[in-house]
Amino acid sequence: SSNPTADLRAAIRSIPDYPRPGVMFRDITTLLGNARAFRRAVDELVQPWPGAKIDKVAGIEARGFILGGAVAHQLSAGFVPIRKKGKLPRDTVSLPYSLEYGLDAIEMHRDAIDTGERVILVDDLIATGGTATAAVDLLRRIGAEVVAAVFVVDLPDLGGAEKLRAKGVTVRTLVS
Ligand code: PRP
Ligand code: HPA
Repeated sequence: SSNPTADLRAAIRSIPDYPRPGVMFRDITTLLGNARAFRRAVDELVQPWPGAKIDKVAGIEARGFILGGAVAHQLSAGFVPIRKKGKLPRDTVSLPYSLEYGLDAIEMHRDAIDTGERVILVDDLIATGGTATAAVDLLRRIGAEVVAAVFVVDLPDLGGAEKLRAKGVTVRTLVS
């Protein structure tokens, strides 16, 4: 199709009642496995920033690593992993975020980004925005300039993208 969004939408698989009854799970593994859709998703994610100087791409574990690595290559930027707690070996900055039941935390290396560096945050999907909001707060805390947060999938009923925009973040999503 000449409509890139239609192609991406068609490449995402929806699984009813996963991981729990009543949840419609949007599965991007089919998009990643489709060469045309994977390339198109990466191209579309960075489309507003042609030739912009982006220093680092930060990707959120685990699916944000797959897209983030490709986006970093596309922008000739470095890649910084934002991980679930306890996985990084050197000094970290850490922030808790809420899950459906209880709390988890994400971490990044304190020396991964220099003050004033321009960063794009990447994840596969934004739902409640808890994970991405914590990631933006972490990046800002170490002095990064968050140029944008980009996601292939938005679940708009859960309000995450609006929550991020309310914090002054430029948000780009490809499929709702
Ligand atoms: C999923 C998804 C986002 C997050 C979105 O990751 O990849 O990172 O949830 O949810 P939120 O907007 O409500 O915070 P998950 O925590 O399932 O981890 P995984 O990628 O390691 O499977
Ligand atoms: N798909 C993938 N990850 C998710 C979803 C989903 O539908 N909802 C929350 N995280």
